[in-house]
Amino acid sequence: MNELRLPRHIAIVMDGNGRWAKQRHLPRHAGHKAGFDTVRRIVKYCAKQGIEVLTLFAFSSENWQRPKQEVSLLMELFMTALQREVNDLHKNQVRLRFIGDRKAFSQKLQQLIDAAERLTEQNSGLTLVIAANYGGRWDIVEAAKRLAVRIEQGTLQSQAINESLFGQQICLADLPPLDLFIRTSGEKRISNFLLWQLAYAELYFTDTFWPDFNEDTLKQALTFFASRQRRFGQTGEQIEYA
Ligand code: IPE
Ligand code: IPE
Ligand code: MG
Repeated sequence: MNELRLPRHIAIVMDGNGRWAKQRHLPRHAGHKAGFDTVRRIVKYCAKQGIEVLTLFAFSSENWQRPKQEVSLLMELFMTALQREVNDLHKNQVRLRFIGDRKAFSQKLQQLIDAAERLTEQNSGLTLVIAANYGGRWDIVEAAKRLAVRIEQGTLQSQAINESLFGQQICLADLPPLDLFIRTSGEKRISNFLLWQLAYAELYFTDTFWPDFNEDTLKQALTFFASRQRRFGQTGEQIEYA
């Protein structure tokens, strides 16, 4: 494994919990629970491999549209997961971060999120980013709003806005750029995940449902990544001779 060129930053759309459960004649919630076990395994594995950042899509800004019962079960799972796992993650030097509009969550959940971030802030191992009530469009709009406020305050001129300045306002700007995007369950769409950040990521899709995703399926994605020539607009020859 170590001879592979590894991505610094991996983002995953953890999809297929519901279909995994359906296949087994189980309630959707059983799929989410099984999916949570996969999260633990994959986090552990990425930390061991020395991946710098793992960003997981846990709940999209559109997922509020699911049946009320499923939404509250997901919130409960989220809460127990935080309560149960944070100390272990901390012991393993994992730094936890959350992106998304957390104001929509209950006070209790917001407190847990804030506390987890504060506790693990100084850790030097894997940065684990949980995207919760996150939307890529929301992210871009928030960035635009922050710049607009500075213009209103007179501390920024519109002419000074460029990709670099705008990019600095976007979530994850302080972390290594996204290298590898993975989506499980056979869907080939972004579903409003990291829109800005995906500009030059390598995209990997697998039919495996998230609860069945494991170290081996991740290794396949890593092998795919290592085999890609990342050209960023240049020609293959330019990259080879550089
Ligand atoms: C992903 O699995 C988990 C969340 C969106 C929270 P799904 O629940 O979307 O599973 P499918 O797509 O219905 O199989
Ligand atoms: C995307 O999955 C969100 C998460 C995995 C959290 P969805 O299952 O909600 O995406 P769509 O609705 O099929 O596009
Ligand atoms: Mg889905």
